[in-house]
Amino acid sequence: MLILGVESSCDETAAAVVRDGRDVLSNAVASQQDLHARFGGVVPEVACRAHIEAMTYIIDEALAGAGAAAGDIDAVAVVNGPGLVGALLIGLTAAKTFAWVHRLPLVPVNHVAAHVYAAHLPPGELEYPVVGLVASGGHTSLCHATSPGEVAFIGATIDDAAGEAFDKVAGILHLGYPGGPAIQRAAERGNPSAIRFPRALLGPDSLDFSFSGLKTAVLYHVCGQNGAARDAAERSDREIADVAASFQEAVVDVLVRKSLAACLRQGCRRLAVGGGVAANRRLREKLARAARRQGVHLCLPEVRYCTDNAAMVAGIAYHLLQRGRTALLDLDAVPQLSELMQGTSE
Ligand code: KG4
Ligand code: ZN
Repeated sequence: MLILGVESSCDETAAAVVRDGRDVLSNAVASQQDLHARFGGVVPEVACRAHIEAMTYIIDEALAGAGAAAGDIDAVAVVNGPGLVGALLIGLTAAKTFAWVHRLPLVPVNHVAAHVYAAHLPPGELEYPVVGLVASGGHTSLCHATSPGEVAFIGATIDDAAGEAFDKVAGILHLGYPGGPAIQRAAERGNPSAIRFPRALLGPDSLDFSFSGLKTAVLYHVCGQNGAARDAAERSDREIADVAASFQEAVVDVLVRKSLAACLRQGCRRLAVGGGVAANRRLREKLARAARRQGVHLCLPEVRYCTDNAAMVAGIAYHLLQRGRTALLDLDAVPQLSELMQGTSE
C-alpha cells in the first residue's frame, strides 16, 4: 500500500511516499530555516506564505522521487495538529484536495505521535508498547504508546520547548538560528562542567519539563542580572563555548533523567526519541549510556527522520488506516495537543 504523507505544522513543507508503513520511497522536505533566521525564530505568517509557495512542488517531488503517479497512491495522510494553525491549514487543504480529486481515503495524523513513529523507519524497528520522548522546537512531550494510534501523554513542558530553549540561548550567545546545531557545534569546544546551570525537575514524581528558568540563568550569567549590562559579544570564544556546553548538558541531563524515569514508571523497557533535538549528539550519547544501564532498549531515528518530515506521517498512517482512522473532508486543524487528544480519545 502506497501512502502519500503531507506535513506543514511548522517551518518545513514536506511530502513523502511510504510503502506499507516502513519502506520510504521518497522524502521531500523544503526547509524555511533561511527565511526565519533573521527573526531568530519561526514567524507564523511568513511560514504560511512559504508553505503555500512550496506545497504543490514538494508533493510533485515526492511522487516523482517515488516513481509514482497520483493514480498509484492508495491514501493521503496529513498532520492536522498540533502546530501553527495557519501552517497546518495549508497542508490540510493540499491533502484534502488530492484525496478528493483522486477519490482516496484521508488519514489525519498527530504530529507528535508521528515523531515517535519515526524510530520505526529504516534502519530502525519499533515494537510497542514504548515510551516516547519528543523534543523539538514546538514540543517537549513524554508519552506511552501501546500501538501507533494509541498514545497517552504523560508529561510535557510547562513553558519553553527544549528546542525553543536551544534557539533562544543561541540568540543570547549570538550563535545564529536554528540554535540546536549551532550550540552543539560551540559545545564541542567547551567544558560541560564549567558552569552548573539549574536542572528543573519540578518535584520527584513529575514527568513535566521547564526550560525557561535555565534560559534566564544563561542570560544572567552572560549579560548580568540587570538585563543587557554586558553582551555575549564581549565574551571570549572559550567562555561562549563553556556556556554552550554547560547549557546543553543541563538540557540533556533533564531529558535523559525524565525519559528513563518514565520508562520505570510505565514498566516499559523500550524508549523511542524523536523531534529535532533528538539529532543532538550529546543527547544521543547520554541516552544510550543511561538506557543501557537501566536495561532499556533505545530506538533513535536517523537524523533526517528526527526533524520534521512527512515519511513519519505516511508511515504511521498505514497503521491508522488499518484501524479505520480516516477523516471526512471537513477535517480541521487543531493547534493544541490537548484539544487534539480530546478529539481522538477512545
Ligand atoms: O522537529 P523540528 O524539526 O521542528 C519542530 O517540530 O519544532 O525541531 C526543530 C528544533 C529547533 O528548535 C532546533 O534548534 C532543534 O530542533 N535542533 C536541535 C538540533 N538540531 C535541531 N537541538 C539540539 N541539537 C541539535 N543538533
Ligand atoms: Zn516536529
